Amino acid sequence: MTYRVLVSDPLSDEGIKPLREIENIEIVKNPGWDEAALLENIDQFDALLVRSQTQVTRPLLEKASRLKIVGRAGVGVDNIDLEAATENGIIVVNAPNGNTNSAAEHTVAMIMSLSRNIPQAFYALKQKQWDRKRFVGVELKQKTLGVVGLGRIGAEVAKRAKGQRMNVVAYDPFLTDEKAERMGITNATLEEVLRAGDFITVHTPLLKETKHLINAEAFELMKDGVQIVNCARGGIIDEDALYDAIVSGKVAGAALDVFEQEPFTEHKLLTLPEVVATPHLGASTIEAQEIVAIDVSHDVIRFLEGKAVRHPVNMPSIPSEAMHQIEPYFYLAEKLGTFIIDLANEVINDIRITYSGELSDIETGPVTRNAVKGILKRFLGSRVNDVNALYLADRKGITVSESKTSAQKGFTNLITIEVTGPSGSRKVAGTLLNGLGARLVRVDGYQVDATPEGHMVVIQHIDQPGVIGRMGSAFAEHNINIATMQVDRSDVGGNAIMLLTIDRHLEDKALSEIALLDEIKSVTAIDL
Ligand code: NAD
Ligand code: MLT
Repeated sequence: MTYRVLVSDPLSDEGIKPLREIENIEIVKNPGWDEAALLENIDQFDALLVRSQTQVTRPLLEKASRLKIVGRAGVGVDNIDLEAATENGIIVVNAPNGNTNSAAEHTVAMIMSLSRNIPQAFYALKQKQWDRKRFVGVELKQKTLGVVGLGRIGAEVAKRAKGQRMNVVAYDPFLTDEKAERMGITNATLEEVLRAGDFITVHTPLLKETKHLINAEAFELMKDGVQIVNCARGGIIDEDALYDAIVSGKVAGAALDVFEQEPFTEHKLLTLPEVVATPHLGASTIEAQEIVAIDVSHDVIRFLEGKAVRHPVNMPSIPSEAMHQIEPYFYLAEKLGTFIIDLANEVINDIRITYSGELSDIETGPVTRNAVKGILKRFLGSRVNDVNALYLADRKGITVSESKTSAQKGFTNLITIEVTGPSGSRKVAGTLLNGLGARLVRVDGYQVDATPEGHMVVIQHIDQPGVIGRMGSAFAEHNINIATMQVDRSDVGGNAIMLLTIDRHLEDKALSEIALLDEIKSVTAIDL
């Protein structure tokens, strides 16, 4: 199978080399499609790689029938409709670490441009004006830098500001006093940061909560003559309020790398001499572009090879060591899910998964998603995958719960799935056996031992002499070879179960004829 990868924004050639080295990956790079052409062609691709220009919208994702993964070569995913991606089972990965250093350095360059009027002085010189008085600056030493958002980039900026002997005051909901103390900075509230800063720099993502976080009221709280920096995302600062604050003299200067609308050729803030700006260049270094492209390329390759990705955005990220531990259970969980839904043979409304033994103290969320995927596949086919399994279960009104017990129940690891529908509950359990792989070990409380694959039949019957023989003959009459047979009973002469593996699918006609035999309570065909 050949995978087709569309690279729709300018990505480093060196960075996408890992993709080029894979034989069954075909790359279409920068075909120069506009929005309409992209929409027209997107259904030919398995993977899409973007920076921030391509708008990965709901209509695009809904049209992308082949698309499995979107790779964002950078941090911010505000150009991608994550909800629509999840709903359509498309995983989004990013490269969160690759451009931290470049963005932090760019922020420092912007702060220094502001403090010493470097761009304005250079511009004047180009206009043949030698003007030393107009461009007197201020030192950074002993000034206060207010940092809003102390994540990867905010923290790197803070470290560099300390190198300039600035005092750093930061606000981030996740900043602890211990971390602040370790970094030699002050942990403060947003209001304290706004009041204290001679320079204020924002480093949050653009979210509902951070949209216009720096607005007219925020400017009111600031020191007169404050200088503002935004190398994070346009929209965190209310541009109209910033314009007014500069014109009123409250804000002495602003350095902006990002804007509410990008790209543009004219902007009212750029008519002000106090504003210096770059066209979203924070991550535009050779080093950062290479690293982010390499990072997403590797994640796309991992994903297309069926391996766990390193930087998922619309799925929880699992450290690689933990992933190593749980990956072998994915297959078992999916097979158990398909087995139980075939056994229940009706639309269900509740799924309970219990992890026992050594599974009780590891992260099992991805295993649950595989079990739910196995169940929903019966209703939704290939539309369901690990990314959207829980979302789709929720949409269908099916509750999913997970519990854990360290009790071994005779197995070092055991996954038990119980589903409930209008006719009641059904239960199945499986384990991973050293050397033997996935085994089905319980069906509705009866003990069995079978590999969960191929064509299986579950027969509920009354434990009586001759039943097994009659059953064997009935299958022979339909020319169906029985490969394995497991039998267990509740008590002598009571309810019993037979689990067969057969060589081909049990058709409806044969199934209903076998179900008519005396002592048979039910026959269910299961194809895994
Ligand atoms: P990050 O996730 O490491 O850090 C973001 C921090 O913001 C987190 O610590 C989070 O707790 C904090 N935060 C969230 N909501 C907040 C709020 N309401 N108030 C205060 N803090 C809040 O992200 P990062 O890698 O440091 O990136 C930061 C920003 O920089 C993002 O917007 C990213 O898109 C942008 N970025 C821009 C460029 C560029 O080219 N200009 C390059 C890289 C990143
Ligand atoms: C990012 O979020 O990583 C930056 O905006 C850089 C980019 O333009 O890709």
